[in-house]
Amino acid sequence: MLVLGIESSCDDTAAAVLENNRILSSVLNCQDLVHAKFGGVVPELASRRHLQSIHPIVVEALSKAGVQLSGINLIAATQGPGLIGSLLVGFSYAKALAHVRRIPFVGVDHMAGHILSVFLGTEKPSFPYIALIVSGGTSSIFLAKDFHQFELLGRTRDDAAGEAFDKVAKMLGLPYPGGPHVSATAAFGDPRYVRFPRAWLEEQSFDFSFSGLKTAVLNHVNQQKIKNAELQLHEICASFQESVVDVLVEKSIFAAKAHNIHTLVIGGGVSANNRLREVFTRRCQEEGFTFHAPLPQYCTDNAAMIALAGYHKFNKHGAHEMGEDVYSRSQLG
Ligand code: KG4
Repeated sequence: MLVLGIESSCDDTAAAVLENNRILSSVLNCQDLVHAKFGGVVPELASRRHLQSIHPIVVEALSKAGVQLSGINLIAATQGPGLIGSLLVGFSYAKALAHVRRIPFVGVDHMAGHILSVFLGTEKPSFPYIALIVSGGTSSIFLAKDFHQFELLGRTRDDAAGEAFDKVAKMLGLPYPGGPHVSATAAFGDPRYVRFPRAWLEEQSFDFSFSGLKTAVLNHVNQQKIKNAELQLHEICASFQESVVDVLVEKSIFAAKAHNIHTLVIGGGVSANNRLREVFTRRCQEEGFTFHAPLPQYCTDNAAMIALAGYHKFNKHGAHEMGEDVYSRSQLG
């Protein structure tokens, strides 16, 4: 089965063609340069840019896969969560294409894409597994029971982990999006230099909170400025990153133990973080757990994961009606 996947939930316009589980093409138009000067995604600009890119990106994905639209058996598009204006562009385009060409269509939850993105590589974890999904808009822990059932165990009560990376980067004068820059700067720093707080919340809670950590970094930066001291960028980034990684890893392991699960999977933009992968690998070895991470190019938003999740959804539940609408909050959990 040839599946065309379309993703436009935030600021990346993406399309991919999969033959069952195998990627034939995956292309992306990244809007980082459009939003960089604002230090964050501007929804209006994002949807306008999606309008310009959606058709050329789909044409490119088909051409790179060596496939004609007439050969496509299923169109899968992100239905939510995300920015409504952005979602509407990709979702409406996909529905129109499916309607006109009489191709079955399915709407996909973006989070399901991230939970399953690990299958786009050579690693194939076995179910059930604990999935930590960390991006600019989410920090959630799911219990993935199979390709269709995902139980939400915990989520952030304020900022998402990627949002915290982006905001700390802004405080330190690093470019947008901040995650990769904070991570690169942290590589040369001492993670024990500043002991930033870790929000463990209540015992037994799988929720996260990163707003206190963000404020602690801001307070540290302000104190240094008052003292006219030079900002130790490497050390601050390493100490901040360690605090985020510590909580993400230990809460995921705690969730695995509480549900007697021995396989852990990560996904979402922040899962590209090297330190996060390093600490997960070590801690899972210590606990006797199996750990799987997606290929770096499938951590951040992409359409291959949407095509994959759509393929499994269609096989189980069949096609969607054309009356389906987009939604801003995840329907999972
Ligand atoms: O999944 P994603 O593309 O979707 C959105 O939520 O838009 O994730 C983007 C987020 C941004 O916050 C970015 O700063 C963060 O993932 N990110 C990282 C790294 N690479 C991307 N955060 C930490 N370390 C990284 N290497």
